[in-house]
Amino acid sequence: MESLSSLFSLKGHVALVTGASSGLGVEFARALALAGADVALVARRADRLERLAAELKERYKVNAAAIPADVTVEAEVDRAVAEANAQLGIIDILVNNAGVAPTGRAENIKREVWDSTFAINVTAPLMLSQRVARALIEHKRPGRIINITSVYGYVGTGIYRMACYVASKAALANLTRQLAIEWCRYGITVNAIAPGWVPTEMNIEGLEKGDNRARIESFIPMGRLGRPEELRAAVIYLASDAASYVTGTVIHVDGGYLAW
Ligand SMILES: NC(=O)c1ccc[n+]([C@@H]2O[C@H](COP(=O)([O-])OP(=O)(O)OC[C@H]3O[C@@H](n4cnc5c(N)ncnc54)[C@H](OP(=O)(O)O)[C@@H]3O)[C@@H](O)[C@H]2O)c1
Repeated sequence: MESLSSLFSLKGHVALVTGASSGLGVEFARALALAGADVALVARRADRLERLAAELKERYKVNAAAIPADVTVEAEVDRAVAEANAQLGIIDILVNNAGVAPTGRAENIKREVWDSTFAINVTAPLMLSQRVARALIEHKRPGRIINITSVYGYVGTGIYRMACYVASKAALANLTRQLAIEWCRYGITVNAIAPGWVPTEMNIEGLEKGDNRARIESFIPMGRLGRPEELRAAVIYLASDAASYVTGTVIHVDGGYLAW
């Protein structure tokens, strides 16, 4: 029967969310569970993943698995994907959300900081996407890959000095487009969500310093920071059948940050 909920239902689907131990990753996991998906939770802090898995089972009556892993270690990526497939079934929704945003003047960036930022923000999404896509292709199953980029995948910023971050998010945005082109023949869509400023562990310290919050808000047409739960609808939409003809695109959830 035609209904709004069937358009967006994720019942029968298996999602894997990286960076599910804090901030936006927790909201993405909740959103996918709300829509009925079983969810594998990946990050390094096991205790937080266990707590969230228990919450998802209790609140949304879905299956959830806490799978601690460092996404920059290829063997751990292999293990995490294998464990998720074994515990929940073949992953057909992947949210590449784990990320870091180191700050520092461009002229002083250390090679190891640059490399580790790219390892988490760009290389890990590719490693995870490859493994998820290979299983889907092998089983002739469609799927959804959703990369979490940033408004700073498009523009630089004078607010903080974060050359590693803006470069890595631009790379992830264009990787999204290329994977979309290569994998649409298999029924796998690849899209991105570009959040604007949302208070999380990643930025809260900086936001609370001096007049930083007010300064940042002055760059946002809506005049305020986002709330984590305001990212929920975008991930449900991109993961759902409703977005079957959407690939290679980026949805901005940014209070208008990129509009002026
Ligand atoms: N908040 C914003 O304003 C904003 C804006 C635009 C884009 N974003 C993007 O949104 C995503 C989530 O950020 P957030 O704001 O929610 O930040 P956050 O609260 O700091 O979360 C980052 C997550 O990444 C995980 N992570 C980091 N390194 C990892 C590794 N090596 N292996 C596995 N997991 C790792 C962390 O978990 P563990 O430490 O437990 O491993 C944590 O769960 C990032 O990609 C970020 O760039 C955020």
